[in-house]
Order: sequence, then structure tokens, then C-alpha cells
Amino acid sequence: MAEPVTVSVDAGAKGKAISRDLVGIFFEDINYAADGGLYAEMVQNRSFEYQATEQPNWGPMSFWEVVQRGEAKVMLMVDAADPLHANNPKYAVLKVDAVGEGAGIANAGFGGMALTGGEAYDVSLFAMHLHNGNRWGKTANDGDAFPLIVRFESADGENLGEAQLEAPMPKRTWKRLSATIMARRTEKAARLLVLATQPGGVAVDVVSVFPQKTFRGRKNGLRADLAQVIADLKPKFVRFPGGCLVHGNGLSNMYRWKDTIGPVEERREQENLWRYHQTAGLGYFEYFQFCEDIGAAPLPVVPAGVCCQNAAHSQGLGQKGLPMALMGAYVQEVLDLIEYANGPVTSVWGAKRAAAGHPEPFGLRYLGVGNEDRITPVFKERFEMIYKAVKAKHREIVLIGTVGPFHEGEDFEAGWKIADELGLAMVDEHYYVAPEWFLANTRRYDAYDRKKSKVYLGEWASRGNKFANALAEAAYLTGLERNADVVPLASYAPLLGKIGNTQWNPNLIYFSNTEVFPTVNYWVQQLFSVNSGDVWLEPVVSGGGAANAVGVDGKVGAVEWEKCGFAVSVVRDSASGDVIVKIVNAGAEARSVQVELKGVSARGLSREAVKTVLTGDPAAVNDAKTPRAVVPVTGKTAVVAAGGGDAEIAEAVAGYSLTVWRIPGKK
Ligand code: AHR
Repeated sequence: MAEPVTVSVDAGAKGKAISRDLVGIFFEDINYAADGGLYAEMVQNRSFEYQATEQPNWGPMSFWEVVQRGEAKVMLMVDAADPLHANNPKYAVLKVDAVGEGAGIANAGFGGMALTGGEAYDVSLFAMHLHNGNRWGKTANDGDAFPLIVRFESADGENLGEAQLEAPMPKRTWKRLSATIMARRTEKAARLLVLATQPGGVAVDVVSVFPQKTFRGRKNGLRADLAQVIADLKPKFVRFPGGCLVHGNGLSNMYRWKDTIGPVEERREQENLWRYHQTAGLGYFEYFQFCEDIGAAPLPVVPAGVCCQNAAHSQGLGQKGLPMALMGAYVQEVLDLIEYANGPVTSVWGAKRAAAGHPEPFGLRYLGVGNEDRITPVFKERFEMIYKAVKAKHREIVLIGTVGPFHEGEDFEAGWKIADELGLAMVDEHYYVAPEWFLANTRRYDAYDRKKSKVYLGEWASRGNKFANALAEAAYLTGLERNADVVPLASYAPLLGKIGNTQWNPNLIYFSNTEVFPTVNYWVQQLFSVNSGDVWLEPVVSGGGAANAVGVDGKVGAVEWEKCGFAVSVVRDSASGDVIVKIVNAGAEARSVQVELKGVSARGLSREAVKTVLTGDPAAVNDAKTPRAVVPVTGKTAVVAAGGGDAEIAEAVAGYSLTVWRIPGKK
């Protein structure tokens, strides 16, 4: 075993006040994270709004097929006359000449609908009976019903549960029909069929299936298993809705929050910048609600009045600013968001929140403006307009500026210059770099000027899901914790990746329609999140680990990785009095460690610590094949009396490990 290491800390010291909210999450609808992912809707292209700009072979009927069984005769077309809502222009029209053994349409969801036997599913759709005067259905009278059957089927045609939808439909009127279907058995890849029961013409739109068991049972809710894994991370904040998705692929594609609230059939669907479709079914209300459900602070990011500089660059689009004539209204839109979140129910936007079922304010404190934008005069002018308006009206909001996509460089410098000039409360740094960079730079923020803007490390990851990556991230987190007075918030990015549908890797959590796989990186984030503190205590590290402590010489490279030593962080949670010691041993060799806890008699610590260890092969990944290759193991460690009334923990830490000791304070 390599030379022993001593970590000595004055557990009774006043310490340095740090943010207890350091670890949060970054949510973006990338990798089918929302539609087809966290958003529990099971029908794909429910509103017939898919388009070829998203994928060249996509159109309004994508992911739908005609069902024509036995003597059935049915024609399917897309129409846009008398739409449900202007934001939802297209719908499907079924002209049924003969019902036969089944005439209608079928949808297989996002790669098959996963049903659980015995569970209830809410199925709904909007229908319009095409009466006399319309192009189809010359036989119907005003007010007649056009009964439809909705049925789950397996790939080989087994009926897994069905219901009949029936209601009188006045002429040219859309009617919402709904039913609950109990799944007869578990099936990984079912389809939903919508079948006519009589000849005639009927239009259908917003065909929807939700499990009743969504996260917290919310209507229009979230996938319970996926949301639970996110909740288990105990994130202190949730950044949403992105990422590049926020500033969008061209000005008309910017994420405009007002398009994402209200009845789902009235929300403006649009192309997802990541080349798929965005229903906005998971919209601002649902994001706020989710934050509240998991006890996390909402951190929305709005566009700074410019679109992404990489927008359709091949077509020469690039960054564009909203015309100045529209900027006044846009600034008001940002102010309205604050009112929507926090305003009284008597305010215009607070009333809309109340109408959605949440009269109490959502307690918005943070607002990001811009995402990795090129810092150009066009950007600066618009950013300043928004900043000044928010500052004038809402001093309580921490407005977060943007400093480009890298940890250095032109936009980084220019973004920081704006922050300095305006005296911004916080800026959003982003970097995706190699694990070696993180090991070498754990001291990055030690030198940051505490009088300047604080840093929200809004996107960061070490380009891999191996345990070695997670260890480098753990080492970096010790540096973030040490500097959580100046870096109060940090979120690994991106959060979710649907297996087989990723546009970006690595991600923190992978999932399929039926399973969820937290990565090793997830466990690191989780251990830091659940073991946060609000006071940082200075550890003095001596012995073998100190000589090779990560980040000391700024030179850890691939070759030197194996020689890496320790990264250490010690925090106290004032509420409980618990002291938490975290040690990352990034090197291969196990080491004996002596943690000296001085002043403990004064602090009154328990004589037993909860010890959690994450260790394994640095090449290991938690994926579908080996989902639990490296997971935390929790046990107990004795905290023994040492000379002078102090206490200590003497143990060996494994090579390639993160060890967390939580020493409870005595109440
Ligand atoms: O996290 C994925 C992408 O990385 C984000 O959308 C963007 O902000 C960054 O470049």
C-alpha cells in the first residue's frame, strides 16, 4: 500500500459559508429527454404536426399507419380546415366506406408503447364528425355521434384492452372524447388503434395516451420511474428547458415560454433544434410543477433575443437578433414570466398560473438569459435591455448572464466583460472537456475574485461515462465545494439520453421505454448532492496523497493519471451539525487514511459515521448490460477517540474510489 495520508480538520471551526445548493440538474429536450422520455405521453405525433424540416422523411402522418382489415375500406388524409386551434393546424381525416374487421389508424408510440398489466391508461382524442356540408359523411345529421373504438394491441394483434368513445358531435365542432383502459397484460411494444364503428367521415387530432400512474399522479404528467431517479438525486435546482434548445434554430424557433402553457391542444408545437419534434406538452407549468414536486428551485433560461449562432449555419443563418421593433414586447414577455411564476392570482399572468391549478407562487429566484450565445453587439444590446428591465422591476431575481460554450476564449472573455460592466449577480459557465482537464483544474475557482459575479457552472461533463470520468468529476466537485462561495450552483449536462435516440453523449441518465440506467457519473452527483453542507472546513492533507494531490500542479495528464493522489473536501451541515468528509482517490493504489477531526468535543460528533463508497474498475460503465457495475455501498465506520478530546477515523480507501463519511452531529 502506498504512503499513508493524513487529513486533518478543525471540525469545530467557523469555516467558510458556502452554497448548500451546489448540485442541481440541467434539463434539455435533447436525446428524446422530454417527448418520448420524461413526458409520459405515449403517442408519437399525437397532433399530426410532424414535418420534413425535422427529419426529411417525416410528415403529418409519420408514426401513424392505416388499419384496414377484412372488408374494411378506409382512406386517410391530412386536413387543416377548421383546426382545433391555430397553433395546431393539422389533423387526420378518416373516410370510412366499410368497417370490415377494423378500419382506422394505429400508432406505435416512441418505439412501442410499454404497458403494465393491470395498470390504467387515460386515452383521449379530439374528434369532429364530418357532417353534411363537409366533404365526407353525407349521411350524418347534426348532433349524431361517431363512435370510435380505442384499443391496445400487441404486434401480433392480441387485444390488450379497449374502450368505446362516443359523444354527440354538433356540426363542425371538435369534441374531446376520453376513456380509461386497463391493460390486460404487460407488453413492451403495444400499439394504439383508433377504429371507426360505422362508415362516414371523422376527423381526429391530439390522440393521447397517458399512464394514470405518472409521477405524483399529475395529469399531463411525467414518467414515474424516470422522474423518481431524478428526484433521488435530490437536485437543489432544475435548469430548463435547455441548452441550445432555448435560443433555437433561427428566430422563429426560439423557445417562447408563452407557447408552452395552457391546454396542450393550444400549445405551439415546433421543430426541436436537435432534429426531432417538440410538442411543448412538457411546458413551463409542468417544469415549475416538477421543480416543486422534487423540492428543487426552478432555474429557467430564456433566449436573450437572439437565436443560436449555429442556427442552420449551412444555410448561412447564424446568430440573428429580434428586430428592435419587437424587443419591447419581448422584454415584456420575460417580465411576464416572472409574473407567471410569482405574481398574485389577481395579476394577468398569475391568474393563468392559478387557472392551471397552482394559485400559490412557484417561488422563482433565478432567471438565466441567453445560452452560450456569441457575444456580439447584437447580443449585447438585447441582453442589456432585458437585464435592465428585470433589474428595475425585480431586484429579488438573480439574473444569470452567459459567457459562451468554453472555459476560456473570446466569448468567455467578452461575456465576463459584460458581467463586470453591468455588475451581474451571476454568469453561466459551460465546459465539456477531458477528465484529465478536470483533475488538473480542481483549483480553477480558488483564484476567482469574490467581488465579481458569482458563477453558475451550468453545463459540465468530462466526455465519458466510464468510472474514470466519474472520478475526475468527483475530484472536480471537491474543488467546486471548496469554492461554493463563488460557484453556488453547478449542473452536469445533459441529464437524459434515450438509448438509440441520442444526439449527444455522454449523459447522466440513460433510459429505454421500460428501464432507467443511472450512470456512474450520476452516483457521483448524487453523493455530492445528498451530502452537501453550508460550511466548508479547511482540510490539511499530509503524507503521500498531498504530494500528488490533484490540481496542485495543473499538469495531470493521461500518463500521470495513475500517480494521482487525493482530492478532499470537508463540509458541515449547520442544520444537523453533521460533518461530511469526502475523499477521492483517483489513483490505482489503496491508501491508509487517517482523518483527524479536531475540536469534536466542542462540536459533539457521533462516534459512528455513515460511510459510502463508490469504487470499481476505472473502465466500468453502468449501462443496459451492466447497470450496476459501480454503485454506492453504504456501511458504518467507528469514529474513535484521539488525544486531546479529538476524534479520528482510520481506514484504508480503495484505489479508484470516492469515499464519503457522514459523521452525525449530536443533537
Ligand atoms: O448539453 C448539450 C448542449 O451543449 C447544450 O444544448 C448546449 O448549451 C451545449 O453546447
